[in-house]
Amino acid sequence: MSIFEKIDFSDHESVHFIADRHSGLRAIIAIHSTALGPAAGGCRYWRYSSSDAALTDALRLSRGMSFKNALANLPVGGGKAVILQATDRGPAPDALAAFGRSVESLGGRYITAEDVGTRVADMKHIGQYTRFVSGLRSSEQVAGGDPSPRTALGVYLSMKEAWRFVAGTDALKGVRIGVQGCGGVGEALCRLLHTEGAVLFIADVSEARSRHVEKEFKATRVLPDALLTSDVDILAPCAMGGVLTPAVVAHLRARIVCGAANNQLATDAEGEALRARGIVYAPDYIVNAGGIISVTLEYFKSGSERDVRARIEEIPLTLRRILDLSEAEGCASNAVADRLARERIANAAPAAREFH
Ligand code: NAI
Repeated sequence: MSIFEKIDFSDHESVHFIADRHSGLRAIIAIHSTALGPAAGGCRYWRYSSSDAALTDALRLSRGMSFKNALANLPVGGGKAVILQATDRGPAPDALAAFGRSVESLGGRYITAEDVGTRVADMKHIGQYTRFVSGLRSSEQVAGGDPSPRTALGVYLSMKEAWRFVAGTDALKGVRIGVQGCGGVGEALCRLLHTEGAVLFIADVSEARSRHVEKEFKATRVLPDALLTSDVDILAPCAMGGVLTPAVVAHLRARIVCGAANNQLATDAEGEALRARGIVYAPDYIVNAGGIISVTLEYFKSGSERDVRARIEEIPLTLRRILDLSEAEGCASNAVADRLARERIANAAPAAREFH
């Protein structure tokens, strides 16, 4: 199948396939839109079942970044990189170097950062080969560093807003919350929720990760397959995308879905299925924007940690607007969010395009 006919191709500006013979690097950089500024989005290191699956992921994730960045009011467009994992180890230094050189060759059209499978140390290494990288370091005066805690903060504040929407209060004490994935974001989210007195149910395919979070936050460990449909008030998918399949939606017991994972809906239709069941879906790319807010302010050296926090505190306001519109119009929340994002991108001032 040609890339242009792929269902997940949605007028991406360009897609770059990278093969480096020396390091064995295989990577894809998808630039969805630069209408609002350089395409920004993390670099995922993942073992895909095929290169086609990697391409699908890059296309979907980069489009999501365009929408996320637009509705977070950031001066960046949407892009994403995926590195195809070929061994059981983390990304090798020479592969990261080759990746960094590829990012540099795009001349600033794409800015990379951490995502699943890559860490601050990887970005620092990539940063030896390109200027177009963020998520490197932070200090009191300058925002930045590991985006995961900021992503978790945005999800947490959004969860409180969604709970206010359905229960009339934003207090999460005693509320039963299921968190799928106890990685960088999942663990930080559990910390915030535990501090507030929420009752936590957690799952991770890594037993070490789930045991650690179980102990740290007095959580109940659930088998990964069972967590999604367990008896909780709020479900927070914080592992991989595509988890809200028709079968899962049909058996969901939560009143709210609000988590960090990108592309949680298997297809857009599941958003409508959730609405039809009376389940509030907090669109993933709205609530998980905390990390990209942090790395963008770091990249442009345009803010302190306090500024990042202030921007993250705007996320629940955007979510509330979307949930109110969804209710008023009888339209799925993901469809409302997509529409608002498309409008912002379409209305981009021509000046925003002159970044390079
Ligand atoms: P991570 O790689 O640190 O953690 C993911 C965790 O999920 C790992 O512990 C992994 O073992 C677990 N996992 C994988 N498949 C699972 C399954 N089927 N059931 C249960 N656990 C499973 O990744 P991170 O950074 O915490 O990101 C989590 C999600 O949030 C990803 O989808 C990512 O794209 C998204 N996200 C992350 C941001 C960030 O700032 N790190 C920003 C925006 C979105």
